[in-house]
Amino acid sequence: MNDYPQVLFKNRLPGETVTLRSYEKTGGYQGLRKALKMSPNEICELVKDSGLRGRGGAGFPTGIKWSFFPSKAPGEKYLVCNGDEMEPGTYKDRQLLRADPHQLIEGMVIASYALQATAGYIFLRYAYEECAQNVERAIAEAKAAGYLGENILGSGFALSLHVHRSAGRYILGEETALLNGLEGKRPNPRAKPPFPAQRGLFGKPTNVNNVETLANVSHIINHGPVWFQELALTIEGSGTKLFGLSGHLNRTTCFELPLGIPLREVVETYGGGIRQGRAFKACLPGGASTPYLTAEHLDLPMDFNPLEEVGSRIGTAGVTVFDETTCMVAVTRNLVQFFARESCGFCTPCRDGLPMVSWLLDKIEHGLGNHDDLCLLAKQVQNITGRSFCALAEGAMGPVESLLRLFEQELKDHIQKGQCPFL
Ligand SMILES: Cc1cc2nc3c(=O)[nH]c(=O)nc-3n(C[C@H](O)[C@H](O)[C@H](O)COP(=O)(O)O)c2cc1C
Ligand code: SF4
Repeated sequence: MNDYPQVLFKNRLPGETVTLRSYEKTGGYQGLRKALKMSPNEICELVKDSGLRGRGGAGFPTGIKWSFFPSKAPGEKYLVCNGDEMEPGTYKDRQLLRADPHQLIEGMVIASYALQATAGYIFLRYAYEECAQNVERAIAEAKAAGYLGENILGSGFALSLHVHRSAGRYILGEETALLNGLEGKRPNPRAKPPFPAQRGLFGKPTNVNNVETLANVSHIINHGPVWFQELALTIEGSGTKLFGLSGHLNRTTCFELPLGIPLREVVETYGGGIRQGRAFKACLPGGASTPYLTAEHLDLPMDFNPLEEVGSRIGTAGVTVFDETTCMVAVTRNLVQFFARESCGFCTPCRDGLPMVSWLLDKIEHGLGNHDDLCLLAKQVQNITGRSFCALAEGAMGPVESLLRLFEQELKDHIQKGQCPFL
């Protein structure tokens, strides 16, 4: 049912994992052969030209990030693949790890060569044990075939890859907390600067990229930057994106779609519309930390810039849809409860601010709030945004800020009726 070009999901078959043989049959590891004949700098430039932006949530341009990396510095340098994926509503990396682990491995070898990294770590969500075993099996296959280890394909380049299972907290997805976790320390985020590219894992230069970001790399090398740019439907966008659908849709699966596809098409064509014939009310467009979109945004192209222009973010493109019967105060309260629980506790705006916001939303949801609570809620959003040590607390304010902006009347109805109007 998906008419758009399939790049990352090209080899995916339900319930199966692509073996090395079938991966090679569809052109697997040709990108690596091509890359090893290029200079590391040429690869960075190509990725820069492709317009690939990080798929882990922040959307930083990948080629630019790589060009800051001190690839010529002597000694150990690391590439870390972030597969923590604990943001509620996000399950796209799991699809890649389950279905096609060689695509990630090939991307990691090419990226490591471009950065001149000496070792790579694949950091996986604690619950992804099946994926961890898949990746370990694929690493062994790749090593036996000469795509990993010493003197890869006779190029003189060497790389080892290691799988690390997370201890299982959301904060481990934040790249510097992740590095502490990899080192076996308490996963508090680190101060930046120094950035991981300067002092990362074990104090050495380290580049962190998301699973989906790295999975795109071999295709960019194989087909070129212009091909990659043209996959998107927007002029400024590049590539496809994995959209993990959830919530009140008839179809809640993960689709590979072009960046720039209208939200309406995602919801109606791929999501199969709202269940029980109800109306669309709102959605989180890219995971639990992204500000809501409403029906007025249905014709927006799902891409980085257009969503930022209306005060939201594409994030991980984990699209969670809510129908007309949903209480957005309750949804937001549930989300903030998650973030408050997952706070590492290091800084005050997050450790004390998130439980306060959660308490206020709970009070309003139960019809016990008053006008002063609404003012206090708005004040708390201001106090927390931009004042926390890492982006967890700021992300938690995404849904709250948009609740105040887009659903003011719904908040007031709770206060006026003295109960949730959706009961
Ligand atoms: C609280 C928090 C959780 C995060 N979780 C993830 C995650 O699970 N996976 C991920 O790739 N990035 C996550 N990030 C973003 C990473 O810090 C980092 O920006 C990303 O891994 C960089 O890769 P990219 O440039 O390829 O997107 C998280 C950030 C924060 C603040
Ligand atoms: S915002 Fe502060 S308390 Fe919250 S997770 Fe980040 S460092 Fe920890």
